[in-house]
Amino acid sequence: MNTQTGRTALITGASSGIGQEIAKLFAQDGYNLVLVGRSDEKLDRLAEVFKNNYGTQQITVIGKDLATEDAAQDVYDQVKAKGITVDALVNDAGVGLYGLFATDTDWEREKAMIHLNVLTLTQMTKLFLYDMLSRNEGKILNLASIVSITPNPMMAVYAGTKAYVYNFTQSLINELKDTNVTVTALLPNATDTDFFHKAGADNTKVTDEVQDPLMVAKAGYDALMAGKHKVIPGGLKNKSYEILAYVAPQETLAAVMRNKMAQKPEPQETEKSSAATWGIGFGIAVLAGIALGVAYANSNAIDRAKYRYKAKSLGDTISDALSSVTDNVVDSLVDAYKSTKSKAEKIVARETELVEDEVGA
Ligand SMILES: NC(=O)c1ccc[n+]([C@@H]2O[C@H](COP(=O)([O-])OP(=O)(O)OC[C@H]3O[C@@H](n4cnc5c(N)ncnc54)[C@H](OP(=O)(O)O)[C@@H]3O)[C@@H](O)[C@H]2O)c1
Repeated sequence: MNTQTGRTALITGASSGIGQEIAKLFAQDGYNLVLVGRSDEKLDRLAEVFKNNYGTQQITVIGKDLATEDAAQDVYDQVKAKGITVDALVNDAGVGLYGLFATDTDWEREKAMIHLNVLTLTQMTKLFLYDMLSRNEGKILNLASIVSITPNPMMAVYAGTKAYVYNFTQSLINELKDTNVTVTALLPNATDTDFFHKAGADNTKVTDEVQDPLMVAKAGYDALMAGKHKVIPGGLKNKSYEILAYVAPQETLAAVMRNKMAQKPEPQETEKSSAATWGIGFGIAVLAGIALGVAYANSNAIDRAKYRYKAKSLGDTISDALSSVTDNVVDSLVDAYKSTKSKAEKIVARETELVEDEVGA
């Protein structure tokens, strides 16, 4: 439903992830849009989609690298030159970088990150907030993070930038409390966007717990519209992180987060070695089984009893070898094997009785 016709929202980082979902929510509500990011082709395509799907009247695309000197001033100047009044500003554009600060990460990338996540966000806020205050209306949403309130080893500089965003936002809220201008901080936990991939962190444990970007965007959008000070999307689980962040010692929080940022165990390695172990064991079992079968068929009753004993020992050996492999997948194969083995043992037991009858006869 178009409820905000004639109003304009400016969203940085609208070309993907959370920013794109927030832009869509504004479009659905009838806002005109200013979309800012480096990939102006992506933003142009998005603009077409919004016009077609939601009848958005006016969309301005500004292709800009916001990690460059005075990028915010340039965006502001372009908006002013077009005579656009920004009613809602969303400072979403942001990047992370994974690795040990001392030895792994690249300073030039860190510098660009600080520029984008901190300097540009601050200058964008300064420029547009001044105009909002002079009209005594307007809304700003700043993308903070759950790591705004916890340390985040392996993404130390990123966490520092997000701590800045959160603290900066909460300070502004106090300064603006007697006005109609609101500032809101959005603190998502790990979210399913391209963020971790771009940061070089796609294989970390935390990427197994990501939440839906649309859910995150909706929580941020609703909080912005309601003029709330902050929002942590994701229900009780993420709320409990917040409580933990306030009560637990920093060392404990850092250890918890370090564990989440650890690399996942190499699944291929385990699978490969398990598969290899199982494959070799299975191959040997089949060959030994065939050999025993041939010998069994050509033997007398006494030798047959011996071969049955060997078959049982072979089964036990394979069972022991397999049970030492702890991988879950192999565990279930072992279960399947054991159940087959116990059926086979019943057959062998029946056969033994028959042979003993034959020998005794
Ligand atoms: N995903 C998460 O787990 C998570 C959690 C908490 C907070 N956040 C925050 O949420 C925000 C959005 O991230 P996301 O998860 O949606 O990641 P994303 O899909 O990678 O989106 C990042 C956006 O930032 C823009 N951007 C990056 N560098 C830029 C630059 N130099 N100049 C202009 N625009 C730039 C990108 O556009 P172009 O590439 O077109 O420039 C893109 O639109 C970030 O501030 C991030 O810190 C993310």
